[in-house]
Formats: sequence, C-alpha cells, structure tokens
Amino acid sequence: MQRILVLPGDGIGPEIVNEALKVLDRVAELEGMDLEIDEGLIGGAAYDAVGHPYPEATRVMAREADAILLGAVGGPQYEALERELRPERGLLGIRSDLGLFANLRPAILYPQLASASTLRPEVVAGLDLLIVRELTGDIYFGHPRGIELRDGERVGFNTAVYSESEIERIARVGFEAAMKRDRRLCSVDKANVLEVSELWREVVIRVGEEYPEVELSHMYVDNAAMQLVRAPKQFDVMVTGNIFGDILSDAAAMLTGSIGMLPSASMNATGAGLYEPIHGSAPDIAGQDKANPIATVLSVAMMLRHSLGQEEGARRIEAAVGRVLDQGLRTADIQSEGCTLVGGKAMGDALVAALN
Ligand code: IPM
Ligand code: MG
Repeated sequence: MQRILVLPGDGIGPEIVNEALKVLDRVAELEGMDLEIDEGLIGGAAYDAVGHPYPEATRVMAREADAILLGAVGGPQYEALERELRPERGLLGIRSDLGLFANLRPAILYPQLASASTLRPEVVAGLDLLIVRELTGDIYFGHPRGIELRDGERVGFNTAVYSESEIERIARVGFEAAMKRDRRLCSVDKANVLEVSELWREVVIRVGEEYPEVELSHMYVDNAAMQLVRAPKQFDVMVTGNIFGDILSDAAAMLTGSIGMLPSASMNATGAGLYEPIHGSAPDIAGQDKANPIATVLSVAMMLRHSLGQEEGARRIEAAVGRVLDQGLRTADIQSEGCTLVGGKAMGDALVAALN
C-alpha cells in the first residue's frame, strides 16, 4: 500500500485537487494500485482552522506519506498576518521540513495550444524544457536575516548561501535529468558578481566530470531570462538556485501560454515528493468552477512517475490530456476560437473518460 497525503489549501486549491483525485482514482483502478489517501490542512485554510499554516498534524502525516498532492496556498485575506503565520510559510515549512531540495518544473507546450502563447508560434512550437530548481537553500532560508535598526534607520537583510554538498546534490539531479533527455544542461548563476555563484559554478563543473555525455553550459541569470523569451528552444535542462529558479520558472511557464497547464515535483533524497501545480491560488476565480485542473492532474502524473513507480499510469494521464485538448475542450485560461469552453469539473470528467 502507498500513502498519499492530499493538501488542498486555499482559493482554487480544493476544486482543482478534487478533479485531480477523480483522475487518480480511475488510474489507480485501471493499474490495480493500492492507495491510502488522507487529507490535511495547509496554508490559509490551516490558519483558519487551527491557527497555523503548517500544523503539527499535517507535519506528522507529511512525514509518513509516500507522496503529497498540494493544491495552492495564499489569499488576500491573509496578507496582513505576521510573516510566520502567512500561508506561504506553510509551503516553505513543508519544503524545508521534508528536505524537498529538488524542484522539477517542466515547461512543455502542447501543440494544440501553440497559439495561446504570447510569443510567436514558431518561437515556442515544440518547446520542452525542464527547470531544476534548488528548493531548500539560498536567500530563501539563509541566515542572518531580518529587519533591524542600524544608525537610526531600519535595514532589511537576507543571506544567499549554498554549501558544496547542497550544490552537488542539485547538480546531480540536473545531470541525471539531462541524461534521460537531450543531454544538455545549462547551469544558471550570477558568478560575475556573487561568491555564492562562484562556488556554485565550480561545483557544477566538478560534478559534470562524472557526466561526460552531458553537454554542460553556464549562463548568467540576466542573460538566461533574456534567452528564455528570445529563443527558449535552445534549452533542454536548466539547473539553478532557489531564487533564480523561482523567477525563471514563472517566465518559462508563460512561454507555454498558460500557467494553468504546468505541474511540478519537489523531491527529497528518499524519493518521497510533493506535487503541485506551479500556479497560485487564484482567489479571483475560486469557487466558480473556472479553474483549469490540468496542471494538478499533470502533477499527479509526475507523482506516479517519480514517487510511486507507476510510469504506465503517468503516461495514461499525459495521453488523456492530449486527447481532451484534441477534442477541443478548453477552460477559460486556454480558450481559443473554435474550441469548446468548459468548467473545471467538466474538464475533470473529460479527462477521466479519456483515460481508458
Ligand atoms: C513558487 C512560489 C513560492 C516560492 C511562494 C508561494 C513561496 O512562488 O513555488 O514558485 O517563492 O517558492
Ligand atoms: Mg514562484
């Protein structure tokens, strides 16, 4: 038996997770999987219920799970809360607590959606890149950090820090991913300015010696941002630190037309993982059956592949997404002329029907 923890979270989280679970149930049935599915609280929903965005009960369940499916966290009603109680702290807390250092963010353009991108179709047609983002270090978690009084005025500060072992393990994830793809890895840093990046580059080069088949290149982050919107198809796998990966992965997502299509996986050294769409909680459309569940459904596919050893099930889901797009079904975020506008529930139902 495999244990899955579901954390719907806030905004559109519960509705997209609901559709993804319909798909998971059906795949489990088709593949004869034995799953135990529990539900827990995270983010604003957890704060509302028990006063903390990452409650102890969730922590306990998370540690026991083989995989976690998360919806989204956050909402305007929580913005005034002190930092430690904000929904985002729930997400950062679970990443750090479980040691989920390797964040995989694929940006794949489905050919059916080529016209949904704000870039010209020929620039993005066939796009298939993977960003490997380090997720538990860097300026997100580095110390010292804070806001304090210096010479009569307040000063805010954070610390970008990476140890050799942290760089080494994420570099290895990047090289391994590249080995399974087109064998090209671009490491993104700011080594012309930052010591932390100087070390990053040195360690990545060293790890690269173990992967002679992989063509390794290096790019400064500002140039990488430009190249992503200029000629994104030059990339196969990109590996980078936490903050650069945060920024570049949003840019990469938009190349594909809709952030509503992209899944992500955050893994630790044991193979357990947290799977979530890369988009946020979209409070403006929550509860209206408008949200696109595909990113969450594809996150389930990643979960089957990376944590549950169910490649077949993963492929079934990915094929079903292609089929439903071929049928012309579109949620509002990917709607285009001549296609059929559907709500999130109808999209979920169509995906379930397309699984067989
Ligand atoms: C992401 C998000 C998070 C991050 C926020 C919600 C804390 O932007 O997963 O990319 O910055 O990592
Ligand atoms: Mg982000």
